[in-house]
Amino acid sequence: MSPTTATMSIVDVLNKQVANWSVLYMKLHHFHWYVKGADFFTLHAKFEELYTEAGSTMDLLAERILALKGKPASMLKDQLSLASVKEAKGGESADQMVKATIADFETMIGELEKGVEAAEKEGDSSTADMLTGIRTSLEKHVWMLQAFSG
Ligand SMILES: [Fe+2]
Repeated sequence: MSPTTATMSIVDVLNKQVANWSVLYMKLHHFHWYVKGADFFTLHAKFEELYTEAGSTMDLLAERILALKGKPASMLKDQLSLASVKEAKGGESADQMVKATIADFETMIGELEKGVEAAEKEGDSSTADMLTGIRTSLEKHVWMLQAFSG
C-alpha cells in the first residue's frame, strides 16, 4: 500500500510532533543539567522524567509514521526547522525553565487537538487515539508544573 494524499497529511502532523519531541528531548536535558537553586533536586528529577517521556513518545510517533509507510524526520537540522517549539536559549532561571516547559507543552496540546481532528476526519482512529494519549499526558504535566510554579 502506498501512502495516499490523506495519509501524507497525517504523516506531516505526526512529523511535526516527532520534531517537537526531539527538540524537547535536548531542551529538557539542558534544563536537567543546568537547573540551579533551592528546587534543584525536584526539578533535576522532574526534567529527567520528562526527557525520558520525550524519547519514548518521539519513538512511538516515528514508528506510527513508518506503519503508515511514511518517513519520520530523523535529522536534527530537519527537526529544528519542522518543530514549532524552540531550543533552550541558555541561562534560564529555574522558574523560566518551568514556564518554558509549560508554554511548549501548551503549544503542543493545541497542535495535538488539531491533529486528532485531522486523523478522525481521515478515519485514522489509531493515530487519533495515540495523539489523544499524548495530549492527556501533557495536560497532566501542565497542571503539575503550574501547581509547582504557583
Ligand atoms: Fe542525569
